[in-house]
Amino acid sequence: MKFQGTKNYVATQDLMLSVNAAITLQRPLLVKGEPGTGKTMLAEEVAEALGMPLLQWHIKSTTKAQQGLYEYDAVSRLRDSQLTDVDGGERVKDINNYIIKGVLWQAFTADQPVALLIDEIDKADIEFPNDLLREIDRMEFYCYETRQLIKAKHRPVVFITSNNEKELPDAFLRRCFFHYIKFPDATTMQSIVDVHFPNLKKELVSTAMKTFFEVRGLPGLKKKPSTSELLDWLKLLLAEDIPAEALQSKDDKMAVPPLVGALLKNEQDVTLFEKLMFMQRHNR
Ligand SMILES: Nc1ncnc2c1ncn2[C@@H]1O[C@H](COP(=O)(O)OP(=O)(O)OP(=O)(O)O)[C@@H](O)[C@H]1O
Ligand SMILES: [Mg+2]
Repeated sequence: MKFQGTKNYVATQDLMLSVNAAITLQRPLLVKGEPGTGKTMLAEEVAEALGMPLLQWHIKSTTKAQQGLYEYDAVSRLRDSQLTDVDGGERVKDINNYIIKGVLWQAFTADQPVALLIDEIDKADIEFPNDLLREIDRMEFYCYETRQLIKAKHRPVVFITSNNEKELPDAFLRRCFFHYIKFPDATTMQSIVDVHFPNLKKELVSTAMKTFFEVRGLPGLKKKPSTSELLDWLKLLLAEDIPAEALQSKDDKMAVPPLVGALLKNEQDVTLFEKLMFMQRHNR
């Protein structure tokens, strides 16, 4: 089982190495990186490349670790116990009918090896990663209601993504292999664009990329545009049939490139960009 990138996903050499290292170590791959650098997509593509089904668990601020294992639906059971016409009262006798299996349970009991994505782990509260230590390490947990030990038949390939909103505890980090997806350099970005828009005119792509990296390089920007925002912008330029010349006009009235709302997401950044364009023009 070796991951070599896919036709939809551009993986750099060091990223492929990390994925394969995590698989070899049988430890979760903890992926960090700016928003839109392909963290979530990585899990989808690796699963696809290795021919494994992918189970996804998207974490929110209210998500609890227990929900990934199982939940006991006591309310439904109580309701069913009061309604005798549900299976003549048979269903309510078996507690297994009221255990809702979480993604980890499903991953552990699957008949074939699966990939598991725990997406945006930093959104949950601080206890969340600590509550999953044993499950991730030993790949087993105990269900008290049914007195069952749920143990992984096959160790899943686990991906954990984080946007760095919270620090992860050391004990948790010890159990992972870590990879930081660096923002793509111009060559890698070119390959990513090619994957998404194989038939785009060379001239448009190079001008758009130049403008994009200029925007990203602006000092003091509140939010730098990401890979996915460049792709959105290119899609719009294509849909509106905007020529390459329109992106880098020498006309004084033309301050900001068209549809810049795809790249800059707040008014301060737009103003900053306008100011810089203005200064550049006067220094010429
Ligand atoms: N290496 C890449 N190859 C191909 N497409 C990419 C790559 N990186 C990013 N993309 C594009 O960027 C989009 C966003 O990627 P994704 O949702 O995986 O980002 P993310 O890192 O999970 O972002 P967030 O932190 O906001 O969740 C993808 O749908 C894909 O179109
Ligand atoms: Mg994501």
